[in-house]
Amino acid sequence: MQKEIHLKQVTPHCGVEVQGIDLSQPLQQDVVDTLSNTLANHCVLFFRNQKLDAVQQKELGRNFGKLHIHPAYPRVIKDHPEVMEIYADENSKNIAGEMWHSDVSCDEEPPLGTILYMIETPPMGGDTLFSSMYAAFDKLSEKMQNMLRGMTAIHDGEEYFRGRYEGVKEEGKVYPCTEHPVVRTHPVSGRPLLFVNRMFTKRIVQLTKHESDGLLRMLFDHLEHPEFQCRFHWKPGSVAFWDNRCAQHHAMWDYYPNRRRGLRVTIKGDKPFYQP
Ligand code: SIN
Repeated sequence: MQKEIHLKQVTPHCGVEVQGIDLSQPLQQDVVDTLSNTLANHCVLFFRNQKLDAVQQKELGRNFGKLHIHPAYPRVIKDHPEVMEIYADENSKNIAGEMWHSDVSCDEEPPLGTILYMIETPPMGGDTLFSSMYAAFDKLSEKMQNMLRGMTAIHDGEEYFRGRYEGVKEEGKVYPCTEHPVVRTHPVSGRPLLFVNRMFTKRIVQLTKHESDGLLRMLFDHLEHPEFQCRFHWKPGSVAFWDNRCAQHHAMWDYYPNRRRGLRVTIKGDKPFYQP
């Protein structure tokens, strides 16, 4: 029996703290529906004081869809290829997600969402920033919004993923690359949002390279404005569940040489579309 759920918005555009749910237990359908709708409208959900093993985290994710296996990230939990270990310590050369992005947007069907469960945190720092792509789109002028509607862009994983992770056999490896609408309609909320990101979006198809570079630079700067964001300070047992369709995120690596460790499951999504 679930207790009553409490929802508290973090900022006007982004983030909701959820209380009253034990994520290790099976969730009733009405709870899943509430979480799905809140996620779709507020971009990211935060939970505290949770305790999950890999099996429970996978079961949690499966409430929202099939689980995704990352095309490039090698560090996964033994016997659980769907559970990625997010890890950094004094030997790390880079960390996952240290740039604004939507997870694996270079996939033909990019992930719906991602659930990160934090196990170990540094003494300070290691926050994750989230940003609403609804708000980013809404804040553009009507003229710019109209120009972007109907445009498409290439999202390519090659430049970011190739050579990034130790232990990956690179020879013959092909990274995902695909074309998505620049303005996307969220399949649950029905709202339009900006769907380009600095990590994967390389080129707007309908423009010359020069025009595309200039426009993408402007859009990346715009969508990273602090007004659209919230920032989550992790503690051991914290969980963030973000919607990759309408949110972007940025992991802050300000805690080197300290250690941070969490487990992540990712939920499969569907092909982005724009519906006027
Ligand atoms: C990621 O992009 O999945 C990493 C997020 C984080 O470590 O905060």
